[in-house]
Amino acid sequence: MSDRESVWNTAPTSAPAQRADRYVSGSNAHPAKMLPAIAAHAIRTYTKPGELVLDPMCGIGTTLVEAIRLHRHALGVEYESRWTRIARANVAQTIRHVEQGSGRVVCGDARQLTQFINADLHGKVALVVTSPPYGRSAHGRVHCTSETGERGVVKTDYRYGRDPHNLAHVSTDQLLDGFSKILTQCRAVLRPGGTVVVTTRPWRTHGELIDLPSGVLATGQAAGLVPAERCVALLAGIRDGRLIDRPSFFQLKNVRDARRQGIPLHLVQHEDVLVFTRPEKPSAASRPLCTNRQPSLRPERCNYRETGHGTRQ
Ligand SMILES: C[S@@+](CC[C@H](N)C(=O)[O-])C[C@H]1O[C@@H](n2cnc3c(N)ncnc32)[C@H](O)[C@@H]1O
Repeated sequence: MSDRESVWNTAPTSAPAQRADRYVSGSNAHPAKMLPAIAAHAIRTYTKPGELVLDPMCGIGTTLVEAIRLHRHALGVEYESRWTRIARANVAQTIRHVEQGSGRVVCGDARQLTQFINADLHGKVALVVTSPPYGRSAHGRVHCTSETGERGVVKTDYRYGRDPHNLAHVSTDQLLDGFSKILTQCRAVLRPGGTVVVTTRPWRTHGELIDLPSGVLATGQAAGLVPAERCVALLAGIRDGRLIDRPSFFQLKNVRDARRQGIPLHLVQHEDVLVFTRPEKPSAASRPLCTNRQPSLRPERCNYRETGHGTRQ
């Protein structure tokens, strides 16, 4: 373990304020964007200017935009062509703005990313920053009647396309299996000693907690990566030493509904950040598992009742 900060102050301003004027129109429609300051904090902490940062599930390209702004080179992979186009536009706009760095976005399935990333980049990636898609309840934006003309409050932008190969549509077991393959591919393109940062969080299905962070920890180890740190990235601001919640409409609603039923839920105001490294020298313990049987990656279901649903920004 290192002496770096384990709580990241990543929401001094709201998500829209962090994205203002930096992302092309259409970016907001993505159902599960990363908070830009989380990507920026990881990039500043684990790389130097001029190094290469990869996001194998890059969505609208938040990791890539923040990497280029910090004078790093960026490479992204995204399965859906809609988000790939937006990520490319975000990368192009950022390069025009900062007049430095480079960025490339490939449309494809990151489970095979070594096949379509140039061989001369294998072993050159300093940092992977990524976040798997999960938990539809945690996605989307809310509009009030006045904006949409419909009655009450409606939720939009909470779905991906309908392609069943997008890992957003699969079961938790399949998601973890797919994510394990993606991390194994990332390990092949990482330089020895390189870092992988995964943001994730638990969510609830029918009142049960799905402990995705534990599942992701197991997938990283199965992919031959070594757990290095476990941090918290705040989604709440800090003012006068106190946390300032930035809950979404549905986050508040879920917690209030649960409390009315006597379930003492609290707002989740952070992402779990799991940090792995690629060992300098392969050891038996850190080699990817090549057996047909995966270790049990399924996160535990339990009736742990201290957290509420979160909503990505
Ligand atoms: C949580 S989102 C990432 C959002 C991104 N960090 C951002 O800020 O825009 C996960 C992304 O993974 C993509 N995805 C799902 N399955 C994939 C796969 N097999 N290969 C590459 N990307 C995939 C989804 O389409 C989605 O855009």
